[in-house]
This record gives sequence, structure tokens and C-alpha cells, in this order.
Amino acid sequence: MLAQIKASGLRGRGGAGFPIGIKLEGCRKAESNQKYIVCNADEGDPGSYSDRYLLENQPIAVLVGLIIAGYVTGADRGVMYIRFEYPESIEVIKQAIADLQSAGLTGTGILGSNFNFEFKVIEARGAYICGEETALLASIEGQRPEVRVRPPYPVNYGLFGKPTVVNNVETLANLHFIVKNGGEAFAKIGTQRSSGTKLVSLDSAFRRPGIYEVDMGTPLATVVEELGGGFKRPVKALHIGGPLGGLVPVQKMFDLTVDFESFAQNSFLLGHASIVSVPEEYPMVAYLEHLFAFTAHESCGKCFPCRIGSVRGKELLQKAQTSDYKIDNELFTDLLDTMKKGSLCALGGGIPLPVMNAMAHFGEELSGYFKEKI
Ligand SMILES: Cc1cc2nc3c(=O)[nH]c(=O)nc-3n(C[C@H](O)[C@H](O)[C@H](O)COP(=O)(O)O)c2cc1C
Ligand code: SF4
Repeated sequence: MLAQIKASGLRGRGGAGFPIGIKLEGCRKAESNQKYIVCNADEGDPGSYSDRYLLENQPIAVLVGLIIAGYVTGADRGVMYIRFEYPESIEVIKQAIADLQSAGLTGTGILGSNFNFEFKVIEARGAYICGEETALLASIEGQRPEVRVRPPYPVNYGLFGKPTVVNNVETLANLHFIVKNGGEAFAKIGTQRSSGTKLVSLDSAFRRPGIYEVDMGTPLATVVEELGGGFKRPVKALHIGGPLGGLVPVQKMFDLTVDFESFAQNSFLLGHASIVSVPEEYPMVAYLEHLFAFTAHESCGKCFPCRIGSVRGKELLQKAQTSDYKIDNELFTDLLDTMKKGSLCALGGGIPLPVMNAMAHFGEELSGYFKEKI
């Protein structure tokens, strides 16, 4: 089964795109009398609701994903860590677990085998950082959701110090297809390095907002224009992949395809593939201020580049909008560089990406707030 999952090339859908086969193999090799599979259903990215769609419409596919991961690694406990703002999802998942129990597909000695698997549902507590895998584990343990230094990685030292696999809802929901049809069948969908399909969430600026499933490699313009039906009002940028994702100028959609490589090669990030539209009339400087404010609010506070840097970024942009103060370009670039290189996790480390995208593509609009032309 592990060989099939590895052959599928399935990569994590929660943001980083890490191959699940390698994670499962690492956990399987780790020696321990207790292992865990954790489903990250915190879905904190504003504008993302594809995990919610799966939890509420395909709960069995998600749960079976955890059971498969448990079978492959030798874990007998599955934890569903679900965003508490999704009470319907929690209800549906609890009911689906009860249905699996009645069908004899969870518990001890499943289908007469010596394989055991039990589920636990945990309601997350509403902080963005709870979606980061190590903070998430701390949160399940009842501790403050603070990011932990890696290594050790969760596959070796995870929940309660035991080997743990943490995967996104959409990643796990793909496993049943691979086990049923084989890794090759999955690898044939999408592109060579980004196999399978991707759920994309479109926001209310689209004529047809909603969740769409597309093969990896689908042109972004097809998603925007054909599936989404274009925009209801003029839009200048698409923030794709959550607040830590890239800020794509709308005309760039013709150069991008929905896969990890295309986005990375163009200095963007596919992430979880939510699309939040920035209206034409919305000032980019105010949008960037909001991104820093979001980071400052959601920072776990463990490392100073993020804890202090996000507040400084917000202050600089605020001051430039409310007085005749002009931001020193070098100071601002240094700030972004320090956050990018010095932050412990991808919250502080990731926020410079959309800011740099904005500076690269909206320099003319932003230049008035800086000492020198961008
Ligand atoms: C600040 C922050 C928030 C995150 N939020 C989520 C989230 O809500 N859901 C998620 O699946 N991954 C989230 N991640 C990514 C997880 O740390 C982790 O990479 C992911 O759950 C691994 O699953 P995958 O390999 O299936 O994508 C977040 C990461 C960071 C840095
Ligand atoms: S980057 Fe921010 S959220 Fe991440 S560990 Fe540092 S302070 Fe915490």
C-alpha cells in the first residue's frame, strides 16, 4: 500500500506540497508502541473553504484516509482537529465516525484482522497558528499553541512525543482513490510533479463563486474565466494560497497553471489554493498593512522576527498613509529579509512573499509611500 501511495506522487494540499508517501514511510520506520495520525482540519486561510466542503460532503473519504494512513504506519489513533468555527463539519464527522463504527470499520480487530483504529474529534480554538502542525499538536496536548523547533519532525516526535503524521484534509481524502485504483492511475492525473487534482475556492468577487476541482496543470485563466465566470467588478490582484500565498496581478493569470511548479517558478505559491480578489479601487498599501496586522495578531510570539517585525511593518505602512512620512526602502527590504530568513515558521517567514509580490507588480501605486521609487 505504501508503494502505491509513493508511486502516486501525492503531495500535501495544506500548503507546503510535501509528499505524503515520505511522511508515511518515516512514521512507519519510527519505533514506538504508540503512533498517531492527525488530520489538520483547522482551515485558517481566509477565503479557503475546500476542507469544509470535504468534511461535510465527503466525510467518509476523509476518515478512510486516516484509517489507510494508520494501517500503513502502524498507528491506531486518528485525531480530527477541526476548526471550531465549523460546527456543522464537527457534527457531520462525528456522525460519520459513528457510521463507520456501526459498520465495523473502526475499533479493535477491524474486519477480523489484527488492525485497530479509533478516532477522536478535537475542536480547534480559533487561532490561525493552530493550523501550523507543531502548534496544532501542542494545542491537542492542551498546551499553548506555540510553534516547536524542527527537527525533530512530528513523524519521529509528534503528539505526546510519539511518532505522528499530520496531513491536511484534502491530502488524506485522496488516499482511498490511490488504494482503490493504484498509484499509477493517480499519477496520470495532473502534471508530472504535481499529480492529481486540486480543489480551488473562489470568493464572492467571482460571478460563480464556489469550490471547483481541477486537474493540476489547469490554466489559472480557465479557473477564473470559465469556471468562476469572470469577475462581478474590476479586480487588480488575486491573493492565492492564503495570507502567506502569492499576490498575483490579475493579468498574470494567463501565465500560470494550477500546480506547485508553475506558481513557484513565477515567485508565487499555490498553497491551499484559495483565491481572494483584491478590488481595483482597494489601495494596495492598505492591503499590505492588513497583512502585517493579521500576522501581528496571529503570531504565536515565539520568535522576534515575526513578533516584532510584523508590528513594525504595520506601523511603517500606517504612518506612511496617515502622515507625510515616507518609508525608507532599504529599511523595509531589510525588515522583509529578516522576517523571511529569521522566522521559526512560515507565518513570519511567509508574509514577506505577498508583500514582495506587491512591490514587484504594484510598484507604481506603492512608490508614493516610499522615499525612493520602487
Ligand atoms: C501559520 C500556518 C498556518 C497553517 N494552517 C494550516 C491549516 O489551516 N490547514 C493545513 O492543512 N495546514 C496548515 N498549515 C500547514 C501545516 O503546518 C502542515 O504543513 C500541513 O498540515 C501538512 O499537511 P499536508 O502535507 O497534507 O499539506 C499551516 C502552516 C502555517 C505556518
Ligand atoms: S514565525 Fe511567528 S508564528 Fe511562527 S514561530 Fe515565530 S512568532 Fe510564532
